[in-house]
Amino acid sequence: METQRLTYTRSSSNEIILGNDICKEVVARVLRLRASKHCAILTNETVAKWYLQPLLAELRTRGMHASEIVLPDGEKYKNLDSISTILAKLCDDGLDRNCPLIALGGGVICDLGGFAASIYKRGLPLVLMPTSFLAMVDASFGGKNGINLAGGKNLAGTFYQPVLTAIDVSVLRTLPLSQLAYGLVEAVKHGAIADSAYFRFIHKSIDSIKAKQINLLQRLTRRSIHIKKTFVAEDELDHGIRAHLNLGHTFGHALEAAGNYIRLHHGEAVGLGMLMALKASQSIGKLEEDYSEHLTHILTELGLPVKIPSELDKKSLLNTLSQDKKKDQDGYRFILPQALGKTFIHKVSPDKIEDFFLTACDL
Ligand code: NAD
Ligand code: GLY
Repeated sequence: METQRLTYTRSSSNEIILGNDICKEVVARVLRLRASKHCAILTNETVAKWYLQPLLAELRTRGMHASEIVLPDGEKYKNLDSISTILAKLCDDGLDRNCPLIALGGGVICDLGGFAASIYKRGLPLVLMPTSFLAMVDASFGGKNGINLAGGKNLAGTFYQPVLTAIDVSVLRTLPLSQLAYGLVEAVKHGAIADSAYFRFIHKSIDSIKAKQINLLQRLTRRSIHIKKTFVAEDELDHGIRAHLNLGHTFGHALEAAGNYIRLHHGEAVGLGMLMALKASQSIGKLEEDYSEHLTHILTELGLPVKIPSELDKKSLLNTLSQDKKKDQDGYRFILPQALGKTFIHKVSPDKIEDFFLTACDL
C-alpha cells in the first residue's frame, strides 16, 4: 500500500492511500480518525452488491457500528432529494460530529457524500472510497462536490476536503469497460495538460489497460493523482491554475447539455471536447504540436466517439455554450493545448464566439 498527502493552505490535509485489496488497512485508518465507534456508509445498489458486506464485516470485527445508506444507482439521483435522504438518516441514527461518513462508490456517491458531510452538523469527517476509475483519478480528492439542480449539472456544492481518500484498485475488476474508458479520458487529459510522457505511456499501453491489468491501473491512478494534486494544492478554490484541469470540459459540457445528458456520457463528451480544443488552438495559430491523431487513436480504441453526433446541431450547441457557468461579462474562457503536456487559457469575447466555436466543431 502507498500513501500520498495533499496539503492545502486553507484546509487540513487529505491523506490518500492507494493499493490492491486494502479493506483491512482502510478500516484501521478509519478507526484512527476520531474516537467515535459509529460511522455511516453511503453507497448505491450496484456497488453495495459487491463491496458493502466486506466493508461492514471488517468494521464490525474492529468494534465499529455502521449506519447504511444505499441509494439507487445513477446520475439522476445526484440531487437534493438524495441529500435529504442522507441527512434524515444521519439524524435518525443519531450521528454526531465525530462520526465519519464513508462514501463508497463512483463519482456520484463521492459528490453526494462530500456535500452531505460538509453540511450535516457543519461537517463530519469525510472518507471517500472511490470504486470507479473516474472517481479514483479525479472525483475522490481535491475537495469539490456537487449536486445537479433543475437548471443544470453541479450547480450546488461546496469545497470540503475528505480526511481520507482510500483507493482499492482491486474493485476495478467489476467495473464495466465502458466506465473504465470514461475514467481513462480524465487520465489522458492529465497527460495532455502536464505530462507528455504519461500521455504517450497511455497510448502505448492501451491494450493492457483494456485488459484491466490491475498493477497498470494502479500506476495510472498514482500518476493522475500526482498531476491533479499539483494543480489543486496551489489553487484549492479554483480561482487560477486549477482551471487547466478543465481541458476539453467547456466544449464537452456544451455537447453533453445539447444531448440532454443522454446522447453523450461525460467521458465521451470530454474526449470530443479535447479534440475540439486542439482544432480551436490550431485555428488561432497557437498549436505547436498537434497530437490529434494519437488522441483519436486512444478514443477509438476505447470505443469512444471522435466525431460530433450529427443530430446535435451547431446552433443548439452554441446555445448550450452560452449557459456555461464559468462565462463572465468578458466572455468565455477556454483551456487550449499548446503542445503535448502544455495548455494555456484563451479568452473569447461574446462577439467572436460563434466563429471560434464553429471552427472547433469541424472535426
Ligand atoms: P458513477 O458514480 O455513476 O459510476 C459509474 C457506474 O459504475 C455506476 O453505475 C456505478 O454504480 C458503477 N460502479 C462504480 N464502481 C463500480 C465497481 N467497482 N464495479 C461495478 N460497478 C461500479 O459515475 P462516475 O463516472 O464514477 O462519476 C461521475 C460523476 O462524478 C459525475 O456526477 C461528475 O459530475 C462527478 N465528478 C466529480 C468530480 C469532483 O472533483 N468532485 C470530478 C469528476 C467527476
Ligand atoms: N475535476 C476538475 C477539478 O477538480 O477541478
